[in-house]
Amino acid sequence: MKRFYITTPIYYVNDVPHLGHAYTTVAADVLARYHDPQRDKKDKNDREVFFLTGTDEHGQKAEQAAKKTGEPIQEYVDRHAKVFQDLWPKLNITNDDFIRTTEPRHTAKVQLALQTLKDKRLIYAADYEGWYCVPDERFWTEKDLKEGNCPDCGRKVDQIREKNYFFRMSDYQKRLMEHIIQNPDFIQPPSRRNEVLGFLQKPLGDLCISRPKSRLPWGIELPFDHEYVAYVWFDALVNYISVLDYPDGKNFKTYWPASVHLIGKDILTTHAVYWSAMLMALELPLPEKIFAHGWWTVDGKKMSKSLGNVVAPGAAAEAVGADQFRYFLMREVPFGLDGDFSAAALVSRINVDLANNIGNLASRVLSMIEKYRNSKIPAKSKEKAVDWITYIIKYRNGMQLVVPSTPYHALDHMIAFCDDTNRFIVENAPWTLAKNEADKEKLDDVLYTAAESVRIIGVMFAPFMPDAAERLAKKLGLANIGTLDWGELEPGTAVSAGEPLFPRIDENKAKEIEAMLTPKTGEPAAAPAAPATPLAPQITIDDFMKVDLRTARVLHAEPVPKSNKLLKLKVDLGFEQRQVVAGIAQHYKPEDITGKNVVMVANLKPATLMGVESHGMLLAANDEGRLVLCGTWETVQGGIKVK
Ligand code: MSP
Repeated sequence: MKRFYITTPIYYVNDVPHLGHAYTTVAADVLARYHDPQRDKKDKNDREVFFLTGTDEHGQKAEQAAKKTGEPIQEYVDRHAKVFQDLWPKLNITNDDFIRTTEPRHTAKVQLALQTLKDKRLIYAADYEGWYCVPDERFWTEKDLKEGNCPDCGRKVDQIREKNYFFRMSDYQKRLMEHIIQNPDFIQPPSRRNEVLGFLQKPLGDLCISRPKSRLPWGIELPFDHEYVAYVWFDALVNYISVLDYPDGKNFKTYWPASVHLIGKDILTTHAVYWSAMLMALELPLPEKIFAHGWWTVDGKKMSKSLGNVVAPGAAAEAVGADQFRYFLMREVPFGLDGDFSAAALVSRINVDLANNIGNLASRVLSMIEKYRNSKIPAKSKEKAVDWITYIIKYRNGMQLVVPSTPYHALDHMIAFCDDTNRFIVENAPWTLAKNEADKEKLDDVLYTAAESVRIIGVMFAPFMPDAAERLAKKLGLANIGTLDWGELEPGTAVSAGEPLFPRIDENKAKEIEAMLTPKTGEPAAAPAAPATPLAPQITIDDFMKVDLRTARVLHAEPVPKSNKLLKLKVDLGFEQRQVVAGIAQHYKPEDITGKNVVMVANLKPATLMGVESHGMLLAANDEGRLVLCGTWETVQGGIKVK
């Protein structure tokens, strides 16, 4: 069995999934599908490729994020891991497993790795005094700091002194350097390899792999000191082997070492240096490749919640189709470099490459076969008139990450193959050949070559756009799109042009897409995964029925003297009129709410606010301090029960 193991980073659960997370995961899926075509149709046990993604759930980030919502931390991480798990099928991701670092199958292996290193005296305790960046959970020495701040994120650092456990990472500096030099493909692209070599020119310190529980209890307990938990990166990196049931599991024996760890450039040091040293210390082989891709910006700016420009991958896939979104991600930016996302670029890429180029070529060729050959694939051509083999070699290099080729280049060659096929059709003018019976054989040749080229283009884009490849296979009368070998189309097979392979996006639809992908100012960038305030404890229906909610109509409103928050309202409850005091003066002017239909708690005990009696309470949504009154969608009489 061909062995191929590909991984993505495991994503922190303090954030909702965004374009960056989708990028690495789509890229990994594309490579998994290239190495194991039809994997989505196979039973998981028959797959040749093991593709892993997951979530990184320990550490300060998760703990602080959970604290903000007020939820118990395990519930918080469960809910957030599910958001990632639910997203991937929408992008047609075919991961074989999804590892969560809070699962016992993982925690046990982290403890095993820690104990193994401790037994080998590769972990020691020492007093640590220095600087600590809380958000990054990293220690820094005085000389590391940049203007007194964290050199990585620029935020303020705290001075701390505490006992901790250290891994003898420095022991592996020389061996690691040698490994990188002897294996030029180990770290890709070459610019990242040079970056790591540069980093290793400076003395490599030992790695602090513990955090005292007194400061951070949310982690995996050290098996040899119950007062400490493992440093979140030590914990997280082990996921790549814990999922395979290291050290004796069948999967571990089959799949380790990983063929490719795909990561973003932000986490290169932790993978290329920390993880490699950890593996050397555990006496395990290093991954074959670590590929660090670049970062996406959005309309030239860094993606951030506060800028409200975070692109939600689920929304993008829904707006343009999962295939089209996947294609854009892999085709727009050379893999390894930074790139910029905009809805306009997405639309243009789909129209230019997919609708106009590939889509038109397919329908042009299929329509000619319909017209000139009664919808049947003609006899096989004697020559491969299009220079297919050159394109295939270049395409394969890209998909196999043969330096400096990447899947981006593979797509480049696919488009060049399309252009060449178009040129071939124009040069041979089948419409002219069709007019002359003497050219019958030549026309067969041209149509077969064109149709076979279209099929091979489908095989080339299949890992990127699996659904489109299936649609194309159907048009060509095939059960599946087949392989890159020339000549798989069988003469006599019935074909049909049918609907366009990729519909063009018109101006109106483009505007719609832009609106879907551009959050309006003030609107949360992605659907907030957590309730801003924790849910109250569950109640029974009987508890709920104790609250008498009624519709009411505001008859009159005026400010309460000496209060800038309160309005005094007269409301009509149908069976009576009431005076209610509401704390909404900063959100509504009296004239704004007069005549409005609201919902109120009608059986609340009367209270006096700023000397004014209030008999009832209006319902309002509290949107981070902005109050929005609740009413009924349609006008109803006052006093109707709401339940
Ligand atoms: N939990 C760690 C990884 C541990 S792996 C053992 C982590 N998680 S993360 O949620 O911050 O995700 C990091 C990865 O998401 C990056 O390495 C990259 O793959 C992807 N991206 C996050 N933002 C990105 C962009 N803006 N652009 C492209 N990819 C980026 O670090």
